Amino acid sequence: MAVPQIALMNGTREPMTIPQLGLGTARMSDEDTQQLVRVAFDVGYRSIDTAASYENEVGVGRGFRDSGLAREQAFISTKLRGSEQGFDSAKKALDASLDRLGVDYVDLYLIHWPLPRLGKYIESWNAMEELLAEGKTRAIGVSNFMAEHLERLAQNSSTVPAVNQIELHPREPQRLQRADDAARGIVTEAWSPLGNAGDLLQEPALRKIAEKYQKSPVQVVLRWHMQQGIVTFPKASTRARLEQNLEVFDFELGPDDLAAISSLENGWRVNGQDPRHYEEF
Ligand SMILES: NC(=O)c1ccc[n+]([C@@H]2O[C@H](COP(=O)([O-])OP(=O)(O)OC[C@H]3O[C@@H](n4cnc5c(N)ncnc54)[C@H](OP(=O)(O)O)[C@@H]3O)[C@@H](O)[C@H]2O)c1
Repeated sequence: MAVPQIALMNGTREPMTIPQLGLGTARMSDEDTQQLVRVAFDVGYRSIDTAASYENEVGVGRGFRDSGLAREQAFISTKLRGSEQGFDSAKKALDASLDRLGVDYVDLYLIHWPLPRLGKYIESWNAMEELLAEGKTRAIGVSNFMAEHLERLAQNSSTVPAVNQIELHPREPQRLQRADDAARGIVTEAWSPLGNAGDLLQEPALRKIAEKYQKSPVQVVLRWHMQQGIVTFPKASTRARLEQNLEVFDFELGPDDLAAISSLENGWRVNGQDPRHYEEF
């Protein structure tokens, strides 16, 4: 079944869309990434999320080339790491990512973390605006930005981020940040959409819903994302799981299901990666 496309409204050079469901690649070697990306394209994925800091852009590029797809058939996102924030370094960083990926442009380039203590996200954003104008990326966006960071960007730039990629799953549904993103015309992307396969997936409420629709708890959580218009890219390491995670467009959660999933919220975050405190470079 076809993955829906979501329109990106801002920070783009031309009207464009992103597949609502893609593949995440964190914590995988180049070799494993190459193999997995190849399989993902084979079973129907068209969107891949990577980052300079994952150190597997080479694998993403090789997996894409192995797929035999044309460049415009794939949506490739990567991210600017903290140690490369700054105007000149951000411009060089995308060139290096393009070299590793072996492509002329990416579809989406994100500031990975705001790192407010570093104080460089505005100049990094200004560099990304130039990279957008130069056609090295089709859209620019941010990740892990809170309302205060987005507001500072808005005061210093007329380019609105196309997306804000944040931690988002039933444990931490990010209602306020999603509302803030939407009010600014920013599409919210969910990272760790499955809560990184923590105890969330063992919840009896999810299992009950899964049984009702003859789906798995993972599929129920992904369907919850899809019904809210969230863009996401669960990571999975086998062909069977990749296929299963795409099979979420043939059932519909009802209001009772959605209410039961809402009750799972407890503010838990993967590895405590709260952008208020968390830094990585
Ligand atoms: N912007 C950021 O700061 C940031 C931070 C973290 C992550 N991300 C992005 O978000 C992506 C996804 O997040 P994530 O990798 O942390 O976690 P996730 O997608 O929430 O969960 C991945 C886990 O779920 C398991 N899983 C996937 N499909 C399954 C299925 N059908 N049945 C059972 N288990 C299944 C995977 O197992 P196996 O792998 O063993 O199959 C893996 O352990 C990352 O890969 C990365 O691209 C971005």
